[in-house]
Amino acid sequence: MHYHSLGKIPRKRHIQFRKENGELYSEQLFSTVGFDDCYSNLYHVNPPTKITQVGEPYSIAPKTVHDKQLKHRSLAGFNIKPEDDYIKSRKPVLVNNDCKIVLAAPRKSMREYFFKNADADEVIFVHQGTGKLRTMYGNLPFEYGDYLVIPRGTIYQLEFDGEDNRLLIVESTSPIETPRRYRNKFGQLMEHAPFCERDIRKPQELETHDDDAEYLFYIKKQDNIYPYHYLGHPFDVVGWDGYLFPYAFSIHDFEPITGRLHMPPPIHQTFAAKGFVICSFVPRLFDYHPLSIPAPYNHSNIDSDEVLYYVDGDFMSRKHVEKGMLTLHPGGIPHGPHPGTVEKSIGAKETHELAVMVDTFAPLVMTEHAAAIEDADYHKSWLTAEISQNGK
Ligand SMILES: [Fe+2]
Repeated sequence: MHYHSLGKIPRKRHIQFRKENGELYSEQLFSTVGFDDCYSNLYHVNPPTKITQVGEPYSIAPKTVHDKQLKHRSLAGFNIKPEDDYIKSRKPVLVNNDCKIVLAAPRKSMREYFFKNADADEVIFVHQGTGKLRTMYGNLPFEYGDYLVIPRGTIYQLEFDGEDNRLLIVESTSPIETPRRYRNKFGQLMEHAPFCERDIRKPQELETHDDDAEYLFYIKKQDNIYPYHYLGHPFDVVGWDGYLFPYAFSIHDFEPITGRLHMPPPIHQTFAAKGFVICSFVPRLFDYHPLSIPAPYNHSNIDSDEVLYYVDGDFMSRKHVEKGMLTLHPGGIPHGPHPGTVEKSIGAKETHELAVMVDTFAPLVMTEHAAAIEDADYHKSWLTAEISQNGK
């Protein structure tokens, strides 16, 4: 990330900064990885510490399913049931200690409470729906194709324009970053990066509320939700600056890297974190060597689990793909294109596929939510396209 400032801030850090009535604003340093990583300084109208009540916590820990099977998996993501409430709508499907892959179909905007994930950074990929992410750093409008990157500890609300919303959420226990190889020593995105600073949308609209009403927060910490009541609206920041803030990046702004021969998955990489990466597969021209095979080769990813979330378009290496489908190809067994798709791909000039990939180094574990939407025969789908149920 890079430096951003919004609203009014004093000339130096940690000096007196007063309101018109002479009272001091309340400075808050928001730092990550102790004092070693990105941070921002925020100036609140009221102190962010006025707790009035702490409610009973409840667990939202994923219920994992250990069937002791090493298998290719396919999940019908759009079969996840919509829920009115945002927190209830978040259904973890594949998890490990580094990340949680969550599907959500929330119907209603968050009006009654504010949410804070104190466990993890979040990347929310907007598959369906438009609206506004409201945060203490300012607001970000969102639409189909946006990645919303929300650093841990950010207090936020999601406002949706309609009820037909589909989100893919990746929770990361380490900070979400852009790939190191795309940044120079000052952090600027380099010429060979598939996106640049102009593609990153920063908060622009700062809300500064000044009241002493009581507000409900749900704070997620160690897979529990802690209901907290505070005095004063959480969006009472008059100004802030720093390197830590939520931002939006549209998958449609990812500029694909293409070549004469099949390019490997790292060219699609968009985000990095400890233990996993997030990649964007976007519409692009195919390989242009006269004997090229655009479909991917068979692949033994011995060291990682590969999750592909299908967003839109056609998928040249898969048959009968549906929107919102999610496949898991675990490390240890090879995977590859479906029968017939290799020959079919020869001579094709371009693809319109749109997909998000999450590759993890530690194995992922399925949850009960995943088991409920699994196509149990998917692992046999390479025999012929027709052998499995539902044609997958
Ligand atoms: Fe692969």
